[in-house]
Amino acid sequence: MEAGKIWNVGLLLVATLVAAKLISVLIMPRSKRRLPPAVSAWPVVGVLVRFMKGPVVMLREEYPKLGSVFTLKLLNKNITFLIGPEVSAHFFKAPESDLSQQEVYQFNVPTFGPGVVFDFDYSVRQEQFRFFTEALRVNKLKAYVDQMVTEAQEYFSKWGESGEVDLKHELEQLIILTASRCLLGEERHLPLPSHPAPSPPRPSSQEAGRHIRNHHSFSQTPQNDLLQCFIDSKYKNGRPTTEAKITGLLIAALFAGHHTSSITSTWSGAHLLTGGKHMSAAVDEQRRLMEKHGDRVDYDVLSEMEVLYRCIKEALRLHPPLIMLLRSSHADFSVKSKEGVEYDVPKRHIVATSPAFANRLPHIYKDPDTYDPDRFGPGREEDKVAGAFSYVSFGGGRHGCLGEPFAYLQIKAIWSHLLRNFEMELVSPFPEIDWNAMVVGVKGKVMVRYKRKHLPIN
Ligand code: HEM
Ligand SMILES: *[C@@H]1O[C@H](CO)[C@@H](O)[C@H](O)[C@H]1NC(C)=O
Repeated sequence: MEAGKIWNVGLLLVATLVAAKLISVLIMPRSKRRLPPAVSAWPVVGVLVRFMKGPVVMLREEYPKLGSVFTLKLLNKNITFLIGPEVSAHFFKAPESDLSQQEVYQFNVPTFGPGVVFDFDYSVRQEQFRFFTEALRVNKLKAYVDQMVTEAQEYFSKWGESGEVDLKHELEQLIILTASRCLLGEERHLPLPSHPAPSPPRPSSQEAGRHIRNHHSFSQTPQNDLLQCFIDSKYKNGRPTTEAKITGLLIAALFAGHHTSSITSTWSGAHLLTGGKHMSAAVDEQRRLMEKHGDRVDYDVLSEMEVLYRCIKEALRLHPPLIMLLRSSHADFSVKSKEGVEYDVPKRHIVATSPAFANRLPHIYKDPDTYDPDRFGPGREEDKVAGAFSYVSFGGGRHGCLGEPFAYLQIKAIWSHLLRNFEMELVSPFPEIDWNAMVVGVKGKVMVRYKRKHLPIN
């Protein structure tokens, strides 16, 4: 009897404690919330000015003081930064219902044109991205490579025996031509604005629409290009894509691919042309491949260009064209900072991460401001060692870039051609970063003196 009573009292006690705990959790969550540290109590205007001056400058100042998770309070928005792989998993992996892209990239709509990717509701958008995935599969990429190589050969055949060019401008032109050839098909260049190309290639919807009608919809012979892929695509319910939507996709693809790739090929060139031993290593690799495969450059040969790949990847680590990635948050979440503190981030915050800053974290990359392609080589692989989301030039996770393999193939096709056929020298100073553009690129001209050569092989 006694033992039973004690047992009952004990049980009651436990139940009470559990209930008390539950109630306290239910009614007191707010007071227990730990908000991330905020960028110091500058007057709002001051913060705004600093942010406009350059988000990366601000991150560089605040990160050492506040750590990997902190909030910037702007007039009408709280922006919480998650910096580095230790704190970025939620940013890259959260479902659309928790973190969405749509609102924060609304400002892209005017650039893309109406009816483009970010304009549609999420389910439609998901389908559109499925089309991208289809269109950029390996078997398709293999066919694009031939077009990339041909386009590069044709373009550089117009250069003289020797001369001086603005490499940035040349590569912009070539990449527009290549992208439209791959995306729209052989002999079918969109009526893009000719040089100079100050803004993204943005054919009017009517022009693009006319192009689609004329060349594709009624075409009897199958075409091997992205446009054909989109035309052939059906939404899940069997509904074919409409012309307006194809146009939108096309412009989005051109936009997503053009600026980012041409900027990256220019930075790759600037670093190669000033990085003596890396240049020789890249040229040696071309020589080896020519000994092995002759002049043939196709998907498989490009895939063997590991030295060149690392040179491009390293240029892109130092100079990601998308310096800030944003999401808008619809659900509270918590995150453990690199420093080990648990923070709660309330919903309605904008959540941000910055490839331009995170790609240079010294605990991940040795001498992070130095151009050193070997850091990705065998035995080092600094990005792999540090784990997922350490290298975020292409984003990652749920919204990771779908065009990454396409971009590398294109840039490798261009640079392997240049390395094989030209002696080059940078004659203007090493270029600066143009922070003012939405897609951050190279400031001013990149003047290069070239001379034709024949790469001697054994
Ligand atoms: C060096 C070249 C490129 C860079 C640095 C780059 C970078 C990026 C980044 C950082 C994102 C993620 C944005 C975010 O998380 O908010 C992204 C997404 C995307 N990129 Fe690229 N990109 C490049 C080339 C291309 C090309 C050539 C294409 C198409 C042919 C392309 C198509 C896309 C698409 C469709 C998405 C959206 C994926 C999604 O939201 O699910 N990109 N890119
Ligand atoms: C920003 O967060 C604070 C809590 O730190 C909150 O009081 C404020 O209302 C938020 N501002 C906006 C515009 O959401």
